[in-house]
Amino acid sequence: MPHELEQLRDAALADVAAAGDEQALEAARVRYLGRAGSISAWAERMKSLSKEQKPVVGKLLNQARTSVTAAITERVERLRIEKESAALASIDISLPGRVTEPGSLHPLTQMLDRAIGIFRRMGFALAEGPDVESEWHCFDALNTAPDHPARNEQDTFYLPDGRLLRTHTSTVQIRTMEKSPPPIRVIAPGAAYRRDEVDATHSAQFHQIEGLYVDKKVSVGDLKGTLEFFLQELFGAETQIRFRPHYFPFTEPSFEIDVKSNALKGGEKWLEMCGCGMVHPAVYEQVNRARGDNAYDPEKWSGFAFGLGMDRLAMILFDIPDIRYFAANDLRFLKQFA
Ligand code: PHE
Repeated sequence: MPHELEQLRDAALADVAAAGDEQALEAARVRYLGRAGSISAWAERMKSLSKEQKPVVGKLLNQARTSVTAAITERVERLRIEKESAALASIDISLPGRVTEPGSLHPLTQMLDRAIGIFRRMGFALAEGPDVESEWHCFDALNTAPDHPARNEQDTFYLPDGRLLRTHTSTVQIRTMEKSPPPIRVIAPGAAYRRDEVDATHSAQFHQIEGLYVDKKVSVGDLKGTLEFFLQELFGAETQIRFRPHYFPFTEPSFEIDVKSNALKGGEKWLEMCGCGMVHPAVYEQVNRARGDNAYDPEKWSGFAFGLGMDRLAMILFDIPDIRYFAANDLRFLKQFA
């Protein structure tokens, strides 16, 4: 016949195992181990036991307490786990998640960042000017005659007040020299606008990187070295560069630069990349007149300027077949540069 304490212990373990929630469990604990609990009552009864019985019952009492306490702790944990897995069971983990796609820079911006990085290393600072310009900054100051075809209404967007959307970023050459005396070494990336027939390689809005370098004894050699370095940094060391004589009213001599590189798609062909030349003395004279001084004395200073087609550079760099993609805002296109 087991001792009453053993019977109590077994009854307690059975109640704990049957407890379906924390409340039932707490009730069982109080019933057996609480101050007035039936197991605890034996601690009181110990006092009246004989010397021989005390250690026997004491041992049974300890065992009963320890095993019931352990069973309660275990049951608490089990109930917690059951509750959590019940909550999780209502979540359908086979449903597709909601993906937040990271954004990325536009290919033109990526190309521009690279270009700026290269010119920065050569000591060029950033300059800027407005897209809506005066006719003087866009043409007259750049030695462009009143009857020059570029000034035609068929070629240029004029505003009712006589201002216009700049047809090239060369306006920033003038704005920079108006503000600061030489030496000057700036690049000016930005948009330009022409009434072009829109097709795969022409857009009414396109982008250029203008460059201007004015200092003592600047030569065509400096111009060649600068642009050759830039283009080889951008397109690879094997890139070949060709200077073709050209005409711009604001440079003399003037050139167009073509690029050829096996690293590029269509690498067998010469690709037109840039207009450039030595700043025409007539431009310095216009600037001096506007400044009211002789800061740009053509006898003392010389310089070169260039205008790189940014869209063109990006199209070649990323092998993009159509200039219209840049402004189409089509994610299927833009994602390819993420
Ligand atoms: N502004 C010229 C163009 O848009 C390019 C150019 C810039 C040429 C600077 C010479 C010097 O075609």
